[in-house]
Amino acid sequence: IQTIGILTSGGDAPGMNAAIRAVTRAGICNGFKVKGIFRGYDGLINDEVQPFTTENVSGIIRDGGTILRTARSKEFMTPEGREKAFQTIKKEEIDALVVIGGNGSLTGARDFAREYDLCCIGLPGTIDNDLYGTDSTIGYDTTLNTIVECVDRIRDTAQSHERIFFVEVMGRDAGFLAQNSAIASGAEAAIIPEDSTDVDQLAQFMERGIRKSKRSCIVIVSESPKCGALYYADRVRKEFPGYDVRVSILGHLQRGGRPSAHDRILASRTGVGAVQAIMQGQRNIMVGIRNNEIVYVPLSEAIRSDKPFDRGLITVLDELSI
Ligand code: F6P
Repeated sequence: IQTIGILTSGGDAPGMNAAIRAVTRAGICNGFKVKGIFRGYDGLINDEVQPFTTENVSGIIRDGGTILRTARSKEFMTPEGREKAFQTIKKEEIDALVVIGGNGSLTGARDFAREYDLCCIGLPGTIDNDLYGTDSTIGYDTTLNTIVECVDRIRDTAQSHERIFFVEVMGRDAGFLAQNSAIASGAEAAIIPEDSTDVDQLAQFMERGIRKSKRSCIVIVSESPKCGALYYADRVRKEFPGYDVRVSILGHLQRGGRPSAHDRILASRTGVGAVQAIMQGQRNIMVGIRNNEIVYVPLSEAIRSDKPFDRGLITVLDELSI
């Protein structure tokens, strides 16, 4: 292997730049040529490729977003799209492809590696923390901290007005962001996909906020097309008309901002781990960290949809929000 190509794909996540920097520098340090591929898999299909030197990644460790840009490529989901992408791989003489992204992006890498003789290495880049086999994903810690800062601010106004807030956070189908941000911000409850919530429980959440001279109640709700924060706010307005209810949907501000030290270190360690994996002849794996050790997880396992959710976290929130 002589040349490593890097791309970022799917939703951007704080720390992706730190990962690009780590793969580029570790690659060059170990004698590889490095090429940056712009706009995710679309850039691979359209040959948007540029040789990278250490200068290309200078000063980016502290920046949110991704200097390589990103995309959710529909074309790459088709065999024809992947064939075009492989033409670029051949033309650019890329021998190993490092994909920094979430579930969908690593599924693409898995399919690509199955169809073509190519070394694909994934790095877990998503705020959702839903990749199997790694304790945390690049971007998750920063987003968690961003949410907590937002909820602290919401608490000020919620207390002043004695209101109930439903705060909707991202996470796609996973409740890691919602549950842990609720614990860290002292919210009264979290509504997550891993646990069902009925109307009796809503009543209980309201009481928690009002009891013990608390003047407000904050419920963190995992995003969901059908039953997000607006849905629960409507239900409370109907079932408990006495309460003053507001909704705050945090949206994409959760994905921006400077990466936390934790995410920069995770990105740097897994980025170096990706280059080491290539040197060891590993193929078609994601580099993660489990119990503070670098691990190589087969791509087909990393994209499993059943990353264990520690139900003890539900007890922690329940007991601390009485
Ligand atoms: O996967 C990251 C994520 O931010 C999810 O939490 C969210 O559901 C989705 O991406 C939003 O995607 P988009 O930016 O394309 O609207």
